[in-house]
Amino acid sequence: MKALAFAKVNLALIVHPRAADGFHPLRGLFQSVSLADTIEVLPATADEITVSNGEVPSDETNLAWRAVEAVRRASRDSRAISLHISKMIPSGAGLGGGSADAGATIGLLAPDHGIDDELALEIAASLGSDVPFSLTGGTALVRGRGEMVDPIEPLTGFSLAIVVPPFSLSTPDVFSEWDRLGGPVGTAVPDGDLPTVLRGREPIRNDLFPAAVSLDRRVGEWRDQLMSVWGTSVAMTGSGSALFAFFPSFDEARGAIEAVDIPARAAEPVELVDRGWTNCHE
Ligand code: C5P
Repeated sequence: MKALAFAKVNLALIVHPRAADGFHPLRGLFQSVSLADTIEVLPATADEITVSNGEVPSDETNLAWRAVEAVRRASRDSRAISLHISKMIPSGAGLGGGSADAGATIGLLAPDHGIDDELALEIAASLGSDVPFSLTGGTALVRGRGEMVDPIEPLTGFSLAIVVPPFSLSTPDVFSEWDRLGGPVGTAVPDGDLPTVLRGREPIRNDLFPAAVSLDRRVGEWRDQLMSVWGTSVAMTGSGSALFAFFPSFDEARGAIEAVDIPARAAEPVELVDRGWTNCHE
């Protein structure tokens, strides 16, 4: 069984003060995008995980492997599994790559292991804040620490250009910095720089951006540089360091990426997709 596991972009991320469980309740507008890892799970005689072209661990600490183990525990089914991940989504970038891999792994294994949607969601939430969204994907309003996912009508009429600077930010560090700064609020993208479908709704802002810049000023420098090349607002996804901007079409997003001649870790035009993962029928 093989699947594409799509990256996510936080079009908006509104953060509230840390709750008693140590997490920050948030309200986010999450969107799956066409940048994807490939996940393959096969029955095997012994457990095995391999990861190609990635900087992520190829052992039991990999989040997708932890998904395999959680599914086996929940289903009391201990059959050996071979998991192969082909990485395209840069890690430590706020694009939810590890969560996407875990979500697709749960999705692929669930039918065979008698796991229904509710249990799948529970397993996903036990693995990380972004995993529940990646099970469903598409366009969703996400609340709680990430476990409350309300899919909404798919957004249309725009593409994104994504640039990943050559450094990573640690999610716990960015949230702690947000606390230390007293809970700053991000600047909303002005309506003029938004696709029509996003105008007049909730603010398109990322409250973690000021904290990310405070931790590593290069995020702000990259944002400013991209804004001057593209002549439009540039926003950050998740806890960074990936940055993105809105373009009316995929061709225009591709043109914007071609105009970037700074040494990024990755630079990709992406389309919106309406799911978190999809079976590859080969
Ligand atoms: O759930 P996940 O492993 O992705 O979270 C990583 C860290 O990010 C958490 O340990 C926590 O410090 C922080 N976090 C948070 N509030 C959230 C999500 C994550 O404080 N809603």
